[in-house]
Amino acid sequence: MSEAGRAQVPAIEFRELTRAFGRKSVLRGVNLVVPPGQTLTILGGSGSGKSVCLKHAIGLLRPDSGRVLVEGVDITGYTERQLIAVRKNVSMVFQGAALFDSLDVYENVAYPLREHWRASEAEIGDRVARCLAAVGLPGVERLLPAELSGGMRKRVGVARAIALEPRVILYDEPTTGLDPANQRRIGELIRDLQRRLGVTSVVVTHELELCFAVSDRVALLKDGRIAAEGSADEMRESQHPAVRAFLEGIQDAANQDDPREGVDGRFAPEG
Ligand SMILES: Nc1ncnc2c1ncn2[C@@H]1O[C@H](COP(=O)(O)OP(=O)(O)OP(=O)(O)O)[C@@H](O)[C@H]1O
Ligand SMILES: [Mg+2]
Repeated sequence: MSEAGRAQVPAIEFRELTRAFGRKSVLRGVNLVVPPGQTLTILGGSGSGKSVCLKHAIGLLRPDSGRVLVEGVDITGYTERQLIAVRKNVSMVFQGAALFDSLDVYENVAYPLREHWRASEAEIGDRVARCLAAVGLPGVERLLPAELSGGMRKRVGVARAIALEPRVILYDEPTTGLDPANQRRIGELIRDLQRRLGVTSVVVTHELELCFAVSDRVALLKDGRIAAEGSADEMRESQHPAVRAFLEGIQDAANQDDPREGVDGRFAPEG
């Protein structure tokens, strides 16, 4: 698709996505549109299915029903081979960074480049250096993951995700466990990639500060559905009870309905 064409269609779209694991139904009809060039954050309690949602966008999980569209193309039935091409344009920063422990930082960041990019070692080295500089870690190429702090590991995970200059980046809890300075740095990086390269981002987090620092749009996942969605300002001001409950920090009470028990969008009376 041409650049002009891509500017018209959602970067990612979920249509009536359902997914169960065994008897536990996690996604129960998720509808979500991520506009191109924007940053959308999915909020939700622990275990609400945020990571499961993200994994559907790159075909790491397949829905029981519903459709997944990437840049207007239905990838729901794609083969593993077809998905490789999708993952070149849509990359994911995994919860917990997921670096290869036996490979040094250089090889970790170079990994997707070697998979997808026919380039000389000099070009690869150049790209690796630029990606590490972009996440504020110049010169750490020869360190092993075990020699990095948690925050550095996260940032190397981001460097690897941006190495192929993808059009869409999915961030699963990119700041959890980081100190405030590193949290801010990741937020700035997400914004910077959007501004400079027009990258679309989907961020999964339960950290409100990051959410409102980076998001154009915010969606709340609850009971297997998008309970509410809107611009960052709309969501901040929303009077929707589930949104208020989440934003006011009682997400534990609001989100720990066990999907197995068939609780369906009901809210506990307040007070
Ligand atoms: N591969 C899997 N096999 C079985 N169950 C799974 C699998 N992946 C996720 N689940 C279940 O689906 C539910 C949602 O998981 P998910 O990881 O998406 O939660 P989350 O919203 O990302 O939570 P957290 O904020 O803790 O990361 C959980 O109950 C989890 O146990
Ligand atoms: Mg998760």
